[in-house]
Amino acid sequence: MKAQLLVPLCLAVPLAAAETSLVLRADQPGATVRPEVYGHFAEHLGRCIYGGIWVGEDSEIPNTRGIRKDTVEALRQLDIPVLRWPGGCFADEYHWKDGIGPRSERPAMINTHWGGVVENNHFGTHEFMDLVGQLGCEAYICGNVGSGTPQEMMEWVEYLTSAAESPMANLRRENGRDEPWVVKYFGVGNESWGCGGNMRPEYYADLYRRFNTFVKNYDRDHPVGRFACGANGRDFNWTEVMMERVGPRRMDGLSLHWYTLPTGDWGRKGSSTDFGEDEWWSTLARTLEMEEIIGTHSAIMDKHDPDKRVGLIVDEWGTWYDPLPGTNPGFLEQQNSLRDAIVAGLNFHIFHAHAERVTMANIAQTVNVLQAMILTDGPQMVRTPTYWVFEMFKGHQGGQVIPLELETGSHALGDREIPQVSASATRDPESGAILLSLVNTSPTEGSEVACGVAGLAAKELSGRLLTAGEITAINTFDAPETVKPVAFEGARLDGANLSIDLPARSVVTLEIR
Ligand code: AHR
Repeated sequence: MKAQLLVPLCLAVPLAAAETSLVLRADQPGATVRPEVYGHFAEHLGRCIYGGIWVGEDSEIPNTRGIRKDTVEALRQLDIPVLRWPGGCFADEYHWKDGIGPRSERPAMINTHWGGVVENNHFGTHEFMDLVGQLGCEAYICGNVGSGTPQEMMEWVEYLTSAAESPMANLRRENGRDEPWVVKYFGVGNESWGCGGNMRPEYYADLYRRFNTFVKNYDRDHPVGRFACGANGRDFNWTEVMMERVGPRRMDGLSLHWYTLPTGDWGRKGSSTDFGEDEWWSTLARTLEMEEIIGTHSAIMDKHDPDKRVGLIVDEWGTWYDPLPGTNPGFLEQQNSLRDAIVAGLNFHIFHAHAERVTMANIAQTVNVLQAMILTDGPQMVRTPTYWVFEMFKGHQGGQVIPLELETGSHALGDREIPQVSASATRDPESGAILLSLVNTSPTEGSEVACGVAGLAAKELSGRLLTAGEITAINTFDAPETVKPVAFEGARLDGANLSIDLPARSVVTLEIR
């Protein structure tokens, strides 16, 4: 986690008036947006797992085998494709055998990274795999390289995925699960350059090769996808070393972590609720750095892997603010405002633009931590503005990216330009329907968008709008629907031309059939 640098953007084309022109090349659909780009991350951190997901079977909060029903239902409505667990930094201190067997007999540990609280290991392998089953999503498990051994990692994969009469598979059966599970993705360490062991890339590259040797495929029909720990933001040397020394045959993905801090200063990141237009703009400028960061890592990967075998896995992204006053600073609790919705929309548009290389992304984190989808307090639950962007954009999952040409105004911030309008469109490969999403970054100015769609005889149009009266608008337990999508009536279709009256500080989706 390094200080972030300001770099100029070259996306925007300044126009005299607040007008935007957009051309969609619907006749030239490109790469597919992998559903996993809409992935999530749940760590043993603060109230993400405990309280947000796991309440225990005896809780008065409605649950299925200890897992909150409201959280599962809300995430299912997002068509959640994949969930990463158990960390984060926690993963390199986690010993999986402490999290199996009767809960009352599981040993406790100290969660040294996150508040120094005692972890009772009540949520372990069986509970996580039950959760992904309830969600109907894929499992992405991160193994322990920092303080673990290749044997421990090998045995975990055997425990999870082997159908044989083998020691670990039989231990799983003793613990109540006969059939092996499918684990589609496995991470070999997390942030090995930092909390995962403070390693240099040359050392980690060798360690990855060693540990990965013991991540076996016990189920030929469901091979485990292996992800190596990748770079911290702009550490392009890390990617260079990994691609050269590990190479495309030994890994399926290489991760990237990049967080958005309003100030770029880890000592004083900025408030999640108390901010003005200055921090609105600096937050959006910093989140747009994702474009240059992904582009540069991709170019390095292209050199070593021109066939794009290895995915760039952005398995931690999102806003990171100062902790909410009165909360445990180690719990990383923050509110989630309309600004976070704009951040989410902008990042998805960047991921779509790099769909050939970015094959998964996992926002940090699912419940009660950082840029969460859901906030809970005891039995209460609220969906955040970020949640609604995931919900509005879910039709992009599996869509083919439509090339577009965009001209829009821009806001100058120091030496960079922040485009007023950001857009992305995908085509459903089966129905041919187009989902166009638009983000207006201006806190005060709407934009008239003139859009031409080449290669589509459009007949029907429907739209949704997410905005609020204030840039700081949030959803609370008392007012849970302050920021919630409504039907959008500001778009008109005339043959192959669309005119869109895009409100200030908004996210809009249009479905064109
Ligand atoms: O998401 C919070 C933390 O951020 C993760 O545990 C770690 O990987 C990163 O530094």
